[in-house]
Amino acid sequence: MQTLFVTGAAGFIGSAVCRYLRRNGLAHVVGIDAMTYAASRESVGNLANDPSFTLIEANITDAAMLAQLFMQYLPDGILHLAAETHVDRSIDTPSEFLTSNVVGTFSLLETVRSCFPLLSPEQQKNFRFLHVSTDEIYGSLGDEGTFDEGAPCNPSSPYAATKACADHLVSAWHKTYGLPTLITNCSNNYGPLQFPEKLIPLAITKALNGESIPLYGDGQQVRDWLYVEDHAQALYQVFTRGHIGEHYNIGGNCEKTNIDLIYQVCTILDELMPNAVYRPHKRLITHVEDRPGHDKRYALNYGKLASELDWRPETSLESGLYETVRWYLNNQMWCNAIQGRKYAGQRMGIIK
Ligand SMILES: NC(=O)c1ccc[n+]([C@@H]2O[C@H](COP(=O)([O-])OP(=O)(O)OC[C@H]3O[C@@H](n4cnc5c(N)ncnc54)[C@H](O)[C@@H]3O)[C@@H](O)[C@H]2O)c1
Repeated sequence: MQTLFVTGAAGFIGSAVCRYLRRNGLAHVVGIDAMTYAASRESVGNLANDPSFTLIEANITDAAMLAQLFMQYLPDGILHLAAETHVDRSIDTPSEFLTSNVVGTFSLLETVRSCFPLLSPEQQKNFRFLHVSTDEIYGSLGDEGTFDEGAPCNPSSPYAATKACADHLVSAWHKTYGLPTLITNCSNNYGPLQFPEKLIPLAITKALNGESIPLYGDGQQVRDWLYVEDHAQALYQVFTRGHIGEHYNIGGNCEKTNIDLIYQVCTILDELMPNAVYRPHKRLITHVEDRPGHDKRYALNYGKLASELDWRPETSLESGLYETVRWYLNNQMWCNAIQGRKYAGQRMGIIK
């Protein structure tokens, strides 16, 4: 069985990728994570006794450590998800995003480049480096149309700019040094175990505490939503069957305004907690100052992935959102612990 590195393995999507790989017996997995505020060991807790899973605390900016890990494990490929990911934080502290997303990706690429000759010819032939990126690199759309893989990069936030920069580095390392890379650009993910600063878990945790649910601006921003397990599956498809040097969009075919999405979350909360004091939960929604540079609409055309690799999202928003809300209701200890340790739900990303 192959050995794969998954960076960002204790994060929301990285942990879903690790669980997917191990659940299906697809690889020995070496998870690499700096265990920043966004990481949670519980997200891979079910793999704690799995002899084919190892979680290593390491920063991807630490090239010496990466080289040591590469020599130790001689991986057959890397799924690179480690990044600083919250747009609001990128407005407050952009330098951390430059360091992890740009310098970190650079140091990972350089490690692969310098250590590649250590791999056997067979391993070199099959090696893949997948960079997991976002639809936010394309910037904002008007009311119509979708972005395909040929759309120009036009990022608005510091987060999106660093991800676009990392995409360019990965492409350049392919074109210049021949590294066998792939890039995916995915729409908004949702599901269990997402850090409660992001839109959906923040709304749920605020509602559970009877606090106001902050909605930025008029709430008419449109996002495309994909269930995290579907994303993990798509990543594996691209990793194993995608064409080297290519970009693939991964979308959910599910556009929603933020306000409609939060209404839907509130309706599910009402249903699951018929005796809750704060019912109907939508009365907790409060419009707050908009995010600076907030993109109006994202929508992805993932026809390339559908036609080349026959991938389509499997989980409907109705069922995925229901599962997600239910998970947060059943795991309030996880939320309370992570919030107590790392984030108290305060507003970020406002320029004073
Ligand atoms: N969440 C989304 O909706 C979404 C959509 C498209 C693409 N992505 C991309 O998917 C990837 C994972 O996103 P996520 O939502 O799981 O993020 P997350 O914030 O939940 O997890 C990121 C993980 O990376 C780790 N990390 C950060 N900096 C690191 C460093 N320097 N060295 C090692 N580890 C580091 C963190 O500790 C954390 O565990 C990111 O690259 C993100 O840009 C996310």
